[in-house]
Amino acid sequence: MVFHVKHVPRETYGANLGKVIAVANQKGGVGKTTTAINLGASLAANDLRVLLIDCDPQGNATTGVGITKGTGKPTLYQVLLDEQDIEEAIIKTEFEGLDILPSDKNLVAINLELVDHDHRESTLREKIAPVRNRYQFIIIDCPPALDLLTLNAMVAADSILIPIQCEFFALEGVSQLLDTIERVRESFGSTIQMEGVLLTMYDERMNLTRQVEQDLREFFQQGVFRTVIPRSIRLAEAPSFGKPILSYDLRSRGAESYIQLAKEILAHEQSAGQATQSLG
Ligand SMILES: Nc1ncnc2c1ncn2[C@@H]1O[C@H](COP(=O)(O)OP(=O)(O)OP(=O)(O)O)[C@@H](O)[C@H]1O
Ligand SMILES: [Mg+2]
Repeated sequence: MVFHVKHVPRETYGANLGKVIAVANQKGGVGKTTTAINLGASLAANDLRVLLIDCDPQGNATTGVGITKGTGKPTLYQVLLDEQDIEEAIIKTEFEGLDILPSDKNLVAINLELVDHDHRESTLREKIAPVRNRYQFIIIDCPPALDLLTLNAMVAADSILIPIQCEFFALEGVSQLLDTIERVRESFGSTIQMEGVLLTMYDERMNLTRQVEQDLREFFQQGVFRTVIPRSIRLAEAPSFGKPILSYDLRSRGAESYIQLAKEILAHEQSAGQATQSLG
């Protein structure tokens, strides 16, 4: 499959509408949540308004930004079931500019509860619509499955960011993921684009890492971010303090790498915007 990386500028979606990025890979433990939290914080550190949506019943993005689960406050689950307005479920985090729509283990039932709904794949897209103009970016953290939750995230998203861990089976499951993206495009009126493939837990001292990187860059070509995320203890520690890496250890390589990733994404946005302007 050939990958065309086309960055659609936000103006295309209408003035001031937040760009929705789904962070997805059905493989577990590849750095989705770490990326969703820290990319979100890095964009917010650029004076942008960012909403992080925890679309995983594990609720790791929720605890990772310091929100306690199971307090009875409304979550994404109630929002998807139409029991709660999205505005009432969104919480400010301690990180300036970063809000979260939290989740907890109850969300797992949504896969069954939405099954009979007419718009079961586009429920999240509908729910996000009223708040899209309040944010410049909406980042969705997906669960490690190609389930109804991930489908909802993809249908809601303008682009998908795929974290891939530099290990031996890195490409395993990727074709299934790409097939799903294609299906979402064909079946749900989605124009989802590739935001990019992000190499995570990168260890430049390992031959294997460099080999896997070479394979991935060959396969995805320009679709791989130049920025790589190093393996870093500090990145792994930060969630247990309920903080993005920018608050936990701003000077760490992990923080630097996510700041760099945000810059790369913003630069893409800008050049896509200029390209459209010069066309128009
Ligand atoms: N760059 C990194 N360096 C070191 N540890 C990392 C890095 N990125 C993530 N981790 C750690 O690896 C584990 C998995 O990361 P994370 O939770 O972000 O993956 P995930 O894809 O969201 O997992 P799941 O599929 O379960 O949702 C976590 O313990 C996390 O702290
Ligand atoms: Mg996760």
